[in-house]
Amino acid sequence: MSAAGLRARPVEALTEEEAAEELAALAREIAHHDRAYYVLDAPEITDAEYDALVRRNRAIEARFPHLIRPDSPSRRVGAAPAEGFAKLRHGVPMLSLDNAFGEQDFRDFCARIRRFLNLPAEERLRFVGEPKIDGVAVNLLYEEGRFVRGATRGDGIEGEDVTRNLLTLKDLPRRLRGHPPARIEVRGEVFMTKADFLALNERQAREGGRVFANPRNAAAGSLRQLDPQITAQRPLRLFAYAMGAASEQPARTHWDYLQRLREWGFAVSPLSRLLASEAEAAAFQAEMADRRASLPFDIDGVVYKLDRLDWQERLGFVGRAPRWAIAWKFPAERATTKLLDIEIQVGRTGALTPRAVMEPVNVGGVIVQHASLHNEDEIARKDIHIGDTVIVQRAGDVIPQVVGVVLEKRPKGAKPFVFPDRCPACGSKAVRPEGEAVRRCTGGLTCPAQTVERLIHFCSRNAMDIEGLGAETIQKLHDEGLVRSPADIFRLARHAERMRSWEGWGAKTRKGAEAKKVANLLAAIEARRRVPLERFIFALGIRRIGEANARLLARHYHSFANWRARMIEAAAGGSEAREELESIQGIGPAIANELVAFFSERRNLKALDDLAQEVTPEEAPAHGPGASPFAGRTIVFTGALDTMTRDEAEHLAERLGAKVTKSVSRRTDFVVVGADAGSKAAKAQELGVRMLSEAEWREMAGLA
Ligand code: IVH
Repeated sequence: MSAAGLRARPVEALTEEEAAEELAALAREIAHHDRAYYVLDAPEITDAEYDALVRRNRAIEARFPHLIRPDSPSRRVGAAPAEGFAKLRHGVPMLSLDNAFGEQDFRDFCARIRRFLNLPAEERLRFVGEPKIDGVAVNLLYEEGRFVRGATRGDGIEGEDVTRNLLTLKDLPRRLRGHPPARIEVRGEVFMTKADFLALNERQAREGGRVFANPRNAAAGSLRQLDPQITAQRPLRLFAYAMGAASEQPARTHWDYLQRLREWGFAVSPLSRLLASEAEAAAFQAEMADRRASLPFDIDGVVYKLDRLDWQERLGFVGRAPRWAIAWKFPAERATTKLLDIEIQVGRTGALTPRAVMEPVNVGGVIVQHASLHNEDEIARKDIHIGDTVIVQRAGDVIPQVVGVVLEKRPKGAKPFVFPDRCPACGSKAVRPEGEAVRRCTGGLTCPAQTVERLIHFCSRNAMDIEGLGAETIQKLHDEGLVRSPADIFRLARHAERMRSWEGWGAKTRKGAEAKKVANLLAAIEARRRVPLERFIFALGIRRIGEANARLLARHYHSFANWRARMIEAAAGGSEAREELESIQGIGPAIANELVAFFSERRNLKALDDLAQEVTPEEAPAHGPGASPFAGRTIVFTGALDTMTRDEAEHLAERLGAKVTKSVSRRTDFVVVGADAGSKAAKAQELGVRMLSEAEWREMAGLA
């Protein structure tokens, strides 16, 4: 029977076979109408007709739940709430963009490209201009044309797995049309239109929900809901605009790539435009600035991307931003208001940052009452007094800033602001190293403002590597008062009973699985009672002591006891110990200062010694392969490398002390992913094994 014929029959009358057939037809049909409506803005049926299809689908699924398809339209409106988000590593890091704040910046950017590629002055640079919407960047993995999973940008290396939430977006193609590469990461922006944002806020206010400051927050807050059903009710949109890892190049120019995205079923910003020259780009910038207020969504500038992908490839990246793209921002929006107070906030790294508290004021459509004052020098330089009338500006996604004071309006008797030299959170000294702008709390391991963040670092994969102790778990243990310092982690066994009584932790509901959570956690902790000294030092989270410097210190001082003693001597002003420290190749005065500051604070020493009661740092090899980040690690190479053969790479890894294996497992530490990597890369991603690009591998191997 035809789909239409089946549809006329009551659901109760359908046989299983007919139901399966009709569900398949409905999935196709609803996807088609979703696309017509949301992507093409050209609906072919009325809302009522659409709703009837959705209801029919739901009714059949209710009767035949075992026939619910993986691509069922009803699965777009997620299922039960998730328990927080898993981390997902991006196949290729998601980087950021440099900004241009005016035409000169943009010209400099073009000149850099010409210089780098050695292009003659008359060679025109073709760009694609994409109005920059402020939303949430997402990375969407497709395999064999099917949507597999998606993540937020996170720290650029790994983001949050928001697959279930993304599935509720009508703009998200679950299957790509045409001929996409076998495996591709498509990147884009999840955002909310201005009208949807205002309507959502009205609804939220009416229902006593959270009211959002701007469309970006609304989009981020909606996408990062633990319950996908809530996301499903939020009017989120998605524009695709970039590519991450891909098994093959689907286009030769970025403009072509945007057309491919459209063919595959993505929405691409209708404002994107191919620009034949620098001059056209500048004209586009002016046009967009003019049209900005009347667009249906907020934009804070235009992203310009060099059109030729082969040139993009050659230009590569500096730091965390590509050389081939730039975000040319619009000028900031400003207003004046009265400064009521200056608060000092202690950041997660101990930085004391002043924050202006002001009379609420409307800046370009957003109500602002707090603004950043950067640091103490800025307050002095701008001569800011409490009670002043100040000029605030909002520049795109950045926190509002106080740009200056209207001196004529200063009230009589207003006094300059005196910056505190003690941490308002813990009372430890707050010091400002010479030549630095920021004053920092030296309370280190003991300052409550820094505790959780430091504990997260302490347990993280490259530090103590305690499995199961992620951000959320640590926050919980901290909030429950069980863990205040690193040493407390190793005393958690005493609290096993209490932990088991927590919802989702104990044996109460799902016996086996949950009882294990506590047992697994305690086992993971026990397993890390002995760690290499370099990890131990790195885990302490001392400023400027990253993995590389921790390794230098471990190799030089060899044992924990020796390192500790020499640091205490240096902190007490011992010039010989200090000289020794600075004599280490790679350790300069700035790094030495941080170590001295750490060891000068008695509270830190107490916390360190307390920890050393629980953990035994293993002596470091004085020289040899211990120097390499690959020493003692297991590594797998997959795909073709550009700069060396696989054989050569494997030999090099072995020389650096690594164990090279052929297959990826939980015990693998690194997977180096070359071109056309297949199932091993997928496996690594699935297991959360650290993946390295060729460039990262070269850098860590000391070749870059
Ligand atoms: S491309 C290497 N294109 O800007 C290329 N980003 O600063 C980096 N954004 O996190 C991204 N519109 O949230 C790109 N058309 C666009 C964009 C865009 C907005 C955001 C995105 C990203 C940030 C980078």
